[in-house]
Amino acid sequence: MDNIETLKRELTEAVANAADEAALEAVRVAALGKKGRISQLMKGLGQMSPEERKEQGPVLNALKNDIADAIAARAHALHDAALAARLATEKIDITLPVRPEPAGSIHPVTQVIDEVVAIFADMDFSVAVGPDIETDFYNFTALNIPPEHPARQMHDTFYFHEKADGERPVLRTHTSPVQIRSMQAQGAPLRVIAPGRTYRCDSDMTHTPMFHQIEGLVIDKDIHMGHLKGCLDAFCRAFFEVDTVRMRFRPSHFPFTEPSAEMDIGCNRSGDEISIGDGDDWLEILGCGMVHPVVLRHGGIDPEIYQGFAFGIGIDRLAMLKYGIPDLRDFFESDLRWLRHYGFSALDIPSLPGGLSR
Ligand code: DAH
Repeated sequence: MDNIETLKRELTEAVANAADEAALEAVRVAALGKKGRISQLMKGLGQMSPEERKEQGPVLNALKNDIADAIAARAHALHDAALAARLATEKIDITLPVRPEPAGSIHPVTQVIDEVVAIFADMDFSVAVGPDIETDFYNFTALNIPPEHPARQMHDTFYFHEKADGERPVLRTHTSPVQIRSMQAQGAPLRVIAPGRTYRCDSDMTHTPMFHQIEGLVIDKDIHMGHLKGCLDAFCRAFFEVDTVRMRFRPSHFPFTEPSAEMDIGCNRSGDEISIGDGDDWLEILGCGMVHPVVLRHGGIDPEIYQGFAFGIGIDRLAMLKYGIPDLRDFFESDLRWLRHYGFSALDIPSLPGGLSR
C-alpha cells in the first residue's frame, strides 16, 4: 500500500512537470505503457491469492484511472498552451493596407450626377431612365415638335438609316423624351429626374457631340411657376453649396413648355475663376417651363386635372462651373493626368448630410 501511495505521488509529480507533449508521452509510456510501472503491477495481480487480489485490484485500478486522468488533463493544458503560443507568433495585422491608394477616380460628370441626384432625392424625386436611341415620336412629336417644326433643325440631330417600316431612329438630342416615357409608365402625380447622355452634331470649346443632361419633371394638381422657382432655387443653393443664389428667369421658347423660361444665376467673373452666388454678372444654366398641355396628353395625362413643370440642365456645364474646368472636350479625352487632377475619390459618395463635394 505504502509504495502505491509513493508511486502515485511520484507519477503525479512527473505528469505535472512534463514541459511539453513529448515529455508527457514519455511519462505515460513509463506508467501505463506495456512495460510501464502500473502495467507491471497489474500483471502481478495474476500471481496473488484471491483475497489479496480482491484488496489490491481496486487500489491498482484507481491508481491507473487517476494517473490516466491526470495525463489527459495535462495533455489538454499543454495543447492549449501550444496553440496560444502559435497564435501569438503567427499573428497578422489585418489593419495594414494591402495595396497602395486605389488608382482610379470618379469622373466629374459622374460626381455631378451623383450630387444632383442626392439633392433631388432629398426633395422626393425618383430617378427615371430612357434609351439613348430614341424614336422620332418620343424625341420630337410627343414633345410638341411635329415634323417640319423649325426646332428640329436647331437640334443638329444624328439620324439612323430609315427602317423598313419607315421609322427613322435618332440618338436622343435631349433627355426630355424621358418625360413622356415616365408619364406613360407612372401616370400622375409624378416627380422624376432623368440624368443621361444626349447627342448633337456639334463640337467646340463648350460643345461635344455626346454630352449629358438631367431632366426634371413634376406633375400634380395646382402646380404653378412658384413651385418651379422654389424647387430650382433650393437646387442651386444646395448644388453650389452657398446660402443664397441670385436667380433670374428670362422668357424663352421651348415647344414642350408654355410659358418657357431660361434661368440665369448671379456670378462674379472678375477673378480667374467664376464664383457663383455673388457678383453682377449672369450665367445661363438651364431651360424650364410649365409642361405644355399637348405634352401631357401624349403622356396620357389630362391637362384639365393636372399641371406640371419641367426643366433641363446641362450636367457637363454644371461640372465646368462648379469645379473650374475650362474646356469641355477634355472631359471625354480619357487623359489619365486630367482624370487624376479633376477626379474624385470613389469612397466619397455625395450626400446632403455627409457633404456633396470636398
Ligand atoms: N430639352 C431642352 C434642350 O435640350 C432643355 C429643356 C428646356 C428641358 C425646357 C425642359 C424644359 O424640360 O422645360 O435644350
